[in-house]
Order: sequence, then structure tokens, then C-alpha cells
Amino acid sequence: MTKTVLITGAGRGIGRQMVLQYLAKGAKVIACARTVSDLDDLVAKGAEAYPLEVTDLDAINALKASLGDRPIDVLINNAGIIGPERQAVGDMDIDGWRQTMEVNVFAPYRVSEALVDNVAASDHRTIVMLSSQMGSIELSTSSDRFIYRTSKAALNQVMNCLAIEWKPRGIRVISTHPGWVSTDMGGSAAPVTPAESAAGLIAVAEGVTDTSSGRFWNYDGKEMPW
Ligand SMILES: NC(=O)c1ccc[n+]([C@@H]2O[C@H](COP(=O)([O-])OP(=O)(O)OC[C@H]3O[C@@H](n4cnc5c(N)ncnc54)[C@H](OP(=O)(O)O)[C@@H]3O)[C@@H](O)[C@H]2O)c1
Repeated sequence: MTKTVLITGAGRGIGRQMVLQYLAKGAKVIACARTVSDLDDLVAKGAEAYPLEVTDLDAINALKASLGDRPIDVLINNAGIIGPERQAVGDMDIDGWRQTMEVNVFAPYRVSEALVDNVAASDHRTIVMLSSQMGSIELSTSSDRFIYRTSKAALNQVMNCLAIEWKPRGIRVISTHPGWVSTDMGGSAAPVTPAESAAGLIAVAEGVTDTSSGRFWNYDGKEMPW
């Protein structure tokens, strides 16, 4: 049966590439972006476009109302931010930290909670979080991007709790590291292209099992340390 995939933050970067590659595989793709016109060319290629500012609970509820009880095989919480300029001890932007947690932690939780029945009604029953190796405590030998690191570490625990919570419903929830990717966030020096990252992430999402749920996966299929 044709898979239905929902991707947040689909207007650019890794999210956009995942839309393109899922469309090429014949999936139905529900692409979400806060500026829906960013999705025009993706709509021309077959995607459906929905407005979604992920920190806006009304927008999440409106998306849920539009989708009704439609099954979603793969829900990809991709939208994320690197956080504010000031992320150094002694010069910490606490309001910016709060906002980063809104986007990178609370929003993926809320979107997942709002759409869990849609995921449960599907065949593949998979939720993917776009985390980062910078959220790994074991791999953090630097405090650079302090706020971003803490947000992705928290996201990993959100993922773990949801995987436990929804296991009885047959839902698999994973965190992923997309590589260091040459997007607006990753910068032009990054060694992994958005297309390479998206291909790897899709392979990880498609290969998810009950056993791989609740764990943290690199885009190349290797497991990441916490
Ligand atoms: N690039 C890397 O090297 C790298 C490494 C590790 C993890 N990641 C993670 O991978 C994910 C995608 O990153 P990327 O490199 O593709 O980043 P990007 O090029 O900066 O794109 C970020 C996407 O998230 C969307 N977004 C941000 N805040 C949003 C909000 N409040 N509501 C709705 N959408 C929002 C953006 O939409 P607008 O266009 O409207 O701003 C954009 O589509 C992020 O979660 C990031 O943390 C990236």
C-alpha cells in the first residue's frame, strides 16, 4: 500500500529533500511549512502543502482537523533551529534558550501527541525525530552551541519516553542524526549533502523495527551513543 508521510519544516534544507525523495518513491507526502508558498514547487511535484508554525498549538490543532483520521505511516519532526547567537556560559540568552526549547523539544512532542492516532491507524506506525550528535552527552567534548546541545539531548529523552508510552499501540519512535549537512543550518563547509542525508534518513525510517524503536540512529544506519 502507498505510504503517507508527513514532514515538518519542509520548505528548505533536509526536510525539503526528504519530500522530494519520498515523492520519487511514490509516497503521498504531506509537506508542512510555516510559509506555505515555500512549498509551491513541491506541490507541483505532487506534495500536499499545509501551513504549520510548529510552536503554534492552534496551527497544530488546525492541521489535525484538516487531516481528520487519515493514517500517517511516517511522521517526521524535522523543523528545528540552532538557537540564538549568545549561547556561552556568562553570556547566555535565556529567552533564546526558552524559544529553542519551544521549537526543538515542545513542538515535536506536541505534533506527535496531536497526530498519534493518525500514526497508530497506519501500517508503518513510525515517528522520526531529527535530533543531532550535538545532543549526545557522550560525544560532547565541547560546550559550543550550549543551547542547541541541551535541546537535542532533551528531544532524545522525549523520543525515548514516547517510544515507551506508545509501544503498546505498535508505534515505533526513533531519534536520528542527519550528519553534518550543507543546509542553511549546517553551512557550506558541511561534508554531507541534503540529498545524501535525506536518502540515509529515509532508509533508517523505512527500516525501523520494534527493536530499533526508542534508540538514536545516524543517517548511515549506525547507532549513535547517548
Ligand atoms: N544541518 C545539519 O548539519 C544538522 C545536523 C544535525 C541535526 N540537524 C537537524 O536537522 C533538522 C533540519 O535541519 P536543516 O539543516 O535542514 O535546517 P535548516 O536548513 O535551517 O531548515 C530548518 C527548517 O526548519 C523550519 N523551522 C524552523 N523553525 C520552525 C518553526 N517554528 N515552525 C515551523 N518550521 C520551522 C524552517 O522553516 P523556515 O524556512 O520557515 O525557517 C526550515 O524549513 C533540524 O531539526 C536540525 O536541528 C541538522
